[in-house]
Amino acid sequence: MIQRFLYGSMIETEAVLDKPKAEQGDLPRFCVDEARREFTYIMEEKERIYGLGENVRGMNKRGWIYESRCSDDPEHLEDKTALYGAHNFLLADGKEPFGIFIDYPGVLTFDVGYTRRNELRITAADWNLEVYFITGENCRDIVRQFRGLIGRSYIPPLWAFGYGQSRWSYMNEDEVREVVRRHRELGIPLDSVYLDIDYMERYKDFTVNEESFPDFAAFNQEMREAGIHLVPIIDAGVKQEDGYPVYEEGIEKGYFCKKADGSPFVAAVWPGKALFPDMLNSEAREWFGNWYQFLLDQGVEGFWNDMNEPAIFYTEDRLKDAQDKLDAYKGKNMDLNEFFAFKDLVFGLQNNVEDYKEFYHDMDGVKVRHDRVHNLFGYGMTRAAGEAFDRLVPEKRILMFSRASYIGMHRYGGIWQGDNKSWWSHLLLNLKMMPSLNMCGFLYTGADLGGFGGNVTEDLMLRWLALGIFTPLMRNHSAIGTRRQEVYQFEEIDAFRHLIGLRYRLIPYLYSEFMKAALSGDMMFRPLAFDYPGDERAAEVEDQLLLGNELMLAPVYEQNASGRYVYLPETMKQLRFRMDGTIEETVLEAGSHYVEIPLSDVVIYLRPNCMLVLADEVKCVEEIDFENLKTICCASGAEEIRYTYYRDNGYEKDYENPEHMKEIRVKTKK
Ligand code: GLC
Repeated sequence: MIQRFLYGSMIETEAVLDKPKAEQGDLPRFCVDEARREFTYIMEEKERIYGLGENVRGMNKRGWIYESRCSDDPEHLEDKTALYGAHNFLLADGKEPFGIFIDYPGVLTFDVGYTRRNELRITAADWNLEVYFITGENCRDIVRQFRGLIGRSYIPPLWAFGYGQSRWSYMNEDEVREVVRRHRELGIPLDSVYLDIDYMERYKDFTVNEESFPDFAAFNQEMREAGIHLVPIIDAGVKQEDGYPVYEEGIEKGYFCKKADGSPFVAAVWPGKALFPDMLNSEAREWFGNWYQFLLDQGVEGFWNDMNEPAIFYTEDRLKDAQDKLDAYKGKNMDLNEFFAFKDLVFGLQNNVEDYKEFYHDMDGVKVRHDRVHNLFGYGMTRAAGEAFDRLVPEKRILMFSRASYIGMHRYGGIWQGDNKSWWSHLLLNLKMMPSLNMCGFLYTGADLGGFGGNVTEDLMLRWLALGIFTPLMRNHSAIGTRRQEVYQFEEIDAFRHLIGLRYRLIPYLYSEFMKAALSGDMMFRPLAFDYPGDERAAEVEDQLLLGNELMLAPVYEQNASGRYVYLPETMKQLRFRMDGTIEETVLEAGSHYVEIPLSDVVIYLRPNCMLVLADEVKCVEEIDFENLKTICCASGAEEIRYTYYRDNGYEKDYENPEHMKEIRVKTKK
């Protein structure tokens, strides 16, 4: 059951399109304090709190304070409270589980037992919000209802389930050709190469640097013939430059965000001074979306939207003010306080939340200060793209994922988990975020495999891929200046070929699970607690995941570990995929086991009376044979094992066609 409660008058987010009638009574279970703009709930001693999508710390969010404030922060550390997404959904798994979604575009604070151990306190920056309270049979059912409320998750084209290689940046055609050639020569599958900011002419959206990519359409065609999709980045800030049509047109039509006095708000990002298109204005959105045509026309079929929190290096005004003040320090013998003040002038320039109070949106006739609707900006940008694709190439599925997001954006694109680091702890964070993101509608997601910042090691790359082969978005991406991490840079080529090759064998299963989750509002990845209620040990497992109804994942995430402890809530079949192509099948009893996992093995668990389907090895998605599949079963009493297999052609949009669902049946031996 879903109940909706109104407080004040909310600025519409369109997270929910089909709203149930508002309730007159009180919000159940919570104490509502309008004066303090707070909702409080007393948690049971062992109640677990899930949700909040993209954020730091555990699957169980208890014991920390979090914020919904889309932030460009590359330090994903335990002491942080927010990352790039604002996903205001919580699920309380106690005696009577419930879900709560706070639809509110400004900053929210979720104190989940931080100030008081048993108190959940949600505080809003102002009192104009809508609250959805959801009850159901169990956690999975509550999530399904919530997902039904917010609408179907974005579905990418099939090729986007292939392996993608990215780097900031491949500087020219030859560098890209080299990446493809090395993968092909070594027999390592690859489906896409990402183009970071340097493909553009001086970081201007919807331009291509003609020196490094002289004939982009022809180059794209050449790549398509090699089975590769090029995926260019698009940034939120539009360079301020006379003669640049995106800038000039936006100014002429008044489509950029403005300051209180009506002049355009200027902030620097990659291209230097830039303007932000008003992503919350429907006309501006349509206009910005239409610009994607420039690249669609050249054969591009996928994009990633970046810096759309929006990220700000400095604003014109703050920089001027800082420069004026810095002059006063010239020749000064600075004491501690003066030095800190001096330092803050410079460090305070970037992503200063005060800047979000300096510009305004025209929300279709209503002027709104940015900070009140901050969390909608990335959503608006990705919506601009998604709506444009539906208009411009309605028959096609276009790959789209974003950095910043809000619930509602999940209908237009996926997200990647932002600028993580080549740290073992971030491999685990990648795993923990998967179910939280799925709850909030984000199914097409994954982290920068190998880590974005910092220098990766070969063992971390291998271990991370052993998780990454299961995430819908499987992309190796790293920052400029870091150790190169294309897999051919390392020694254990056979191991990398094996891991990535296995991904392609799994795609029929992964795609089928993805589609079923998208169509039924289910979660593709779940914490163990969701499927084994009452199992107190399963409830506390934070380093294993259920995938679909069939699999359990338990990857290694510690350096120099030759294996790990795995908890099995029930007897399962352990599948060990070895580098020589063999699959070792061992039945393991319920309980804890120490499992040896060499760097080149992938070990997963098949649940009782379940089936895993596998394709043959290939070098790109186009070559996968989705019909002739190998099946592996974990027979445990059932006479017949069934798998509901979703299979469409991966490019058309008739998702709901019942012919796409087939049942695969395997009789077990008597
Ligand atoms: C941002 C993105 C990162 C990208 C970089 C350069 O940091 O998050 O993925 O490589 O910008 O465009």
